[in-house]
Formats: sequence, structure tokens, C-alpha cells
Amino acid sequence: MPAPSILFVCLGNICRSPLAEGIYRHLTIRTSEKPVIASAGIGNWHVGNPPDKRSIKIAAAHGIDISRQRARQVTQEDFYAFDLILAMDGSNLARLETLKPENATASLQLFAGLAFGTNQDVPDPYYGDLSDFEEVYTMLFSGCSAVVSKFE
Ligand code: 4NP
Repeated sequence: MPAPSILFVCLGNICRSPLAEGIYRHLTIRTSEKPVIASAGIGNWHVGNPPDKRSIKIAAAHGIDISRQRARQVTQEDFYAFDLILAMDGSNLARLETLKPENATASLQLFAGLAFGTNQDVPDPYYGDLSDFEEVYTMLFSGCSAVVSKFE
């Protein structure tokens, strides 16, 4: 199966989805077919901002630089431009379902649904501490690894 283009979506596009984008790109950087990978947020509060310092720190601790990413909001075009749109939690997925145009071509799924076959949320770490970000990193790394191997 050819590697799909993927848009990772969370609420603010500063904590979870930038980590997912960075991890997925890191895992596929040496593959011959470099898929288009991006991330976006449901909300517009952080548009233009770099990821949360704690996401940058956790990623850097694992050898991944996400500091040059900038937050953006999901657009209508995203539903045609990407093969897959992966929501970090059920609330993000519900919002995306309401934004999705009728003739959208992207497949919209819960991240954990595709990665693990479960309906788990990637928990929002924004009001948490660094250990919550580490937990999110671990979940995203194992989930992204599972998704990458599906398309190898
Ligand atoms: P994210 O986390 O959705 O993983 O980027 C959040 C970031 C910001 C806010 C909420 C969640 N916020 O309310 O500003």
C-alpha cells in the first residue's frame, strides 16, 4: 500500500499533534517514499505559534526537533488534500465530523483506532506537567510506529 499523506489533529496544535507530526516524520525520514505529514488544530488560539515548550523538550529528549513547526487551524481544503486525518481524541473527532464537507476525500479516524484498534483518547496534557507529556510521547511513538508499519 502506498504511504498515505496524514494530517494529525488536536485541539490547539501545540501539544499532541505537533509531537505526532514530528514522530511520524522521524519514523519515515529514511523511507524511499516520504509521505506528506502535517498537523493542525481545531481551535485558532495558537495559530502561528511554535509548539508548547514541554512538547519541544520531550521531543528533543528523544532526538526529535519540532521547534520549527507553527500551529495552524484545520481548513476545508485539508479534507481533500490529505488521505488520512487522524484525531487525537473523541472530541476532536466529533468536531472534525461536523467540519467535514460532504464530498471530502480524506478518511477521518481516531488516532488510536487506526494505531491500536481501540477507542482510547490521546489525553490532553496542556494543563498537566512534564510527566503527562512523556506519557503522551510514549503513546504517540508506539501508535505512530504501528501506523507506519501498516503502510510499509
Ligand atoms: P493540544 O493541547 O490540543 O494537544 O495542542 C491544548 C493546547 C491548548 C489548549 C488546549 C489543549 N488551549 O485551551 O489553549
